Amino acid sequence: MKSPLPAFDNRITRTLGVAVPIANAPMGTVANPELVSAVTAAGAIGLVPGSIGATRARAFLERMAETTNRPFGVNIPVSFADPGMVDILLEHGVRFVTTSSGPVAPYTARLREAGVTVFHVVTSLETAQQAADAGVDGLIVEGSEGGGLRGATEIPLMVLLPLITSRIDLPVIAAGGIVDGVSMAAAFALGAEGVQMGTRMLASAEAGVHANLKQAVVSASEAESIMINRHNQRPLRVLRTATTRKYEAPSQLDAFRDLIRDVPRLYEEGDMEVGFASVGQVSGRIDQVLPAAEVIRRTVAEFGEVIGRLSRDHFKG
Ligand SMILES: Cc1cc2nc3c(=O)[nH]c(=O)nc-3n(C[C@H](O)[C@H](O)[C@H](O)COP(=O)(O)O)c2cc1C
Repeated sequence: MKSPLPAFDNRITRTLGVAVPIANAPMGTVANPELVSAVTAAGAIGLVPGSIGATRARAFLERMAETTNRPFGVNIPVSFADPGMVDILLEHGVRFVTTSSGPVAPYTARLREAGVTVFHVVTSLETAQQAADAGVDGLIVEGSEGGGLRGATEIPLMVLLPLITSRIDLPVIAAGGIVDGVSMAAAFALGAEGVQMGTRMLASAEAGVHANLKQAVVSASEAESIMINRHNQRPLRVLRTATTRKYEAPSQLDAFRDLIRDVPRLYEEGDMEVGFASVGQVSGRIDQVLPAAEVIRRTVAEFGEVIGRLSRDHFKG
């Protein structure tokens, strides 16, 4: 029998008190209690989406309290968050928060004073430096290949991650294009100590979206996720459909204004032509819907195999 992998031990696992430095992306509605509980139960980093509003967030956190005593985190999307979100998560004893989609400042000081570990999502060296200056505990570095709302600078992870990890000494979770142990190992080689999976977890058995959307990710090639809405300074990486085509070129149209209200319908009814489906380029590497725990198990096993193989294949003796 093969010997089991040694346990992870780095700044992410130590800071967050987890066994496995893999997070689910905190995707509103998609990352439902079933998905976040499964990730947390696997010893990884379950992240609760904070974009779901105060009432649903409370119910979610109550459910987490019933299903796990392991650590998990909550995302606050700064530009869209319910102003009461910090109170809610402090009431529920949350110890880890990621802030995203906006400036680092609004919540960092209060959360850190309350003893909460804060990681900020960044998409450029400049925003990473601002987050470091604001005193965050770590960064989530997001490349432009990832699904959903993107930074205006659109830098892919291969360039952004080593740039930031070579200049800023903070623990980093890498996001954008991570689906398996090969991509996780690549991110670790570039300086990350953890990874976050969005599109891969959207195509998981537990994710709170219609089977049509999961199947669309499985069927999509690497070229079928496209950037729309650049002209409104809110680029979004989504699956190309007849509906999204008209938001690719500059116009008066605003996908945020027009399509976001129908995303819940797309998730519930599986009608791919209403709303927009946020998915990343890595859809082209996903060919199966899997339970979240199986994604994590396979990723960790392959990560260990890749780390060993690289030194065997590229050195003498
Ligand atoms: C459907 C969807 C919803 C998302 N919602 C959020 C969110 O509310 N907050 C956030 O910080 N990131 C959000 N993201 C971005 C992810 O956190 C993550 O950075 C990205 O998906 C990583 O790239 P990948 O899709 O290639 O894994 C979302 C991504 C997707 C696909």
